[in-house]
Amino acid sequence: MTFTVAIDGPAAAGKGTLSRAVAAHFGFAHLDTGALYRAVGVKGGDPVEAARSLAPEDLARDDLRTLEAGQAASRVAVIPEVRQALLEFQRAFARRAGGAVLDGRDIGTVICPEAEVKLFVTASPEVRAHRRWLEVGGDEGKVLAEVRERDARDMNRADAPLKPAADAVILDTSALSIEEAVARAITLIAAARG
Ligand code: DC
Repeated sequence: MTFTVAIDGPAAAGKGTLSRAVAAHFGFAHLDTGALYRAVGVKGGDPVEAARSLAPEDLARDDLRTLEAGQAASRVAVIPEVRQALLEFQRAFARRAGGAVLDGRDIGTVICPEAEVKLFVTASPEVRAHRRWLEVGGDEGKVLAEVRERDARDMNRADAPLKPAADAVILDTSALSIEEAVARAITLIAAARG
């Protein structure tokens, strides 16, 4: 059985938490595709070479969740050859047997347009920045500026920009708890599975 859940949305919208909960509920495998771009961004050197030679240990680094890694990821993610190098791995993961949840920016539009369920998870920039600030600390105003900067770059790039697929369900989590967002996603996925 293949069954793909594509979860896209802007930085710090809650995609990761939602994806992990949904994958655990249905027993699906989960791939955080942002981690691939973060790993390429922090590896240094030529990003295209870094993407082509990405190894499991690159994904195990403990500095992938920092604001700097997020910015570095967003910068290397505009390079078409980097995206191309990461494409096949993501496609194969999406169609693996047993079901898969992938979260990112272009899963429903580019990586797996045939996904059985597409969610576009979003929230206001202020809510997203606050959530990220609770994780990373520091100056909340700076976190908000970084969220806005990353949104602009991710939405305006030429190759695979962040946008909802035409058939995606929009899930605005600004006023939802994690539990409410997870419950809505589970209802949608269960309905699609029949
Ligand atoms: O989801 P995240 O914050 O870990 O993503 C980090 C950056 O990686 C994001 O700003 C843009 C890029 N990215 C992408 O271009 N495509 C994806 N499918 C996932 C992430």
